[in-house]
Amino acid sequence: MKFPDLQIQTPNAEALRLAAELLRAGEIVAIPTETVYGLAANALDAGAVRKIFEAKGRPSHNPLIVHVPDSAAARRLTADWSVDAEALAAVFWPGPLTLVLKRGAVSVPDIVTAGGDTVALRCPQHPVALQLLQLCGFPLAAPSANRSNAISPTTAHHVAMSLGGRVPLIIDGGACAAGIESTVLDLTDTVPKILRPGSITAAEISRVLGRKVLAAPAKGTVDEGLPAKPLASPGMLSTHYAPDTPLFLVSRTELRRLLQQEPAAADAQAGVMLLSSRGEMGGEELETWVVVCMPPSPEAYAQRLYAELHHLDALGLRAIYCERPPTESAWAGVNDRLSRAAQRG
Ligand code: TXA
Ligand code: MG
Repeated sequence: MKFPDLQIQTPNAEALRLAAELLRAGEIVAIPTETVYGLAANALDAGAVRKIFEAKGRPSHNPLIVHVPDSAAARRLTADWSVDAEALAAVFWPGPLTLVLKRGAVSVPDIVTAGGDTVALRCPQHPVALQLLQLCGFPLAAPSANRSNAISPTTAHHVAMSLGGRVPLIIDGGACAAGIESTVLDLTDTVPKILRPGSITAAEISRVLGRKVLAAPAKGTVDEGLPAKPLASPGMLSTHYAPDTPLFLVSRTELRRLLQQEPAAADAQAGVMLLSSRGEMGGEELETWVVVCMPPSPEAYAQRLYAELHHLDALGLRAIYCERPPTESAWAGVNDRLSRAAQRG
């Protein structure tokens, strides 16, 4: 269905009532969470969930996260709400941790789990999302509210740019605090395993469980290298979770060399995402580049990452050179997203 009259509403009582009404009627609604904006539908209604896949252009084999108001609601959807699940929910919920558990006999329809026998559950830490879950009384399936493979949205404006015309209502809850998607933790095996790193780290989870947690294979630690020559036209390459503009992860040394060697902005400008202040790089060299100075802490970096990528991508630059952040585990979530943004096929 197309929705020419897109509504973006501030989250007052009336807007929340309208959102709950739409969701109850089997519609989709974009909602804020603390990580990124989600495209929500009643997780118990297969027809409603199908609309999420259609609006996003998402392949049906990619399962959705189910959002619940509390651990009691989560427990009802799983066959094995374990001691580990209970301990993690007690510490991290509401919050950016998704738990993958065995699906219950009475659970969400197949379309949510892509036919699999596990279900991904999380309780979001955003007052609007929580109020809406309470109002609805049913769980909400919600992937990030962007077209499949595009950059995730951290503002209502990002959602409108990506899904405008495909969603009847966006609730504007301001900019997301965490800024990258939740940590996804698989609890179905003997050893808990991180499937997607996020702002809750393997070390934090391990501390709560009192045992080892398998971290996701480190991405962004391999040097993707620079192109042999500057790319003629951004947007020619197929991208994954990525800006249309080619993005290259580079060390500070490489960046310095690049800034000295590259002819300044002959045809199109390039963007540079620096860690910390531009002063350290020598202000003059940077004059002909579009420069973004990213904050030095992983939390603050994550919060701004997608907004800066959206911003730089809209400028039609020939490339974005991003200074590679540290490889410490606290940066795992950021490095994972950057390496995906840099991945080109
Ligand atoms: O922070 C978040 O998690 C955001 C907000 C809206 O809650 N949601 C989000 O959803 O990022 P999405 O669909 O963009 O990413 C969900 C990830 C995908 O990588 C998906 O494959 C994985 O979670 N996932 C979902 N269900 C799963 C399952 N049963 N087993 C393993 N992975 C699952
Ligand atoms: Mg997504």
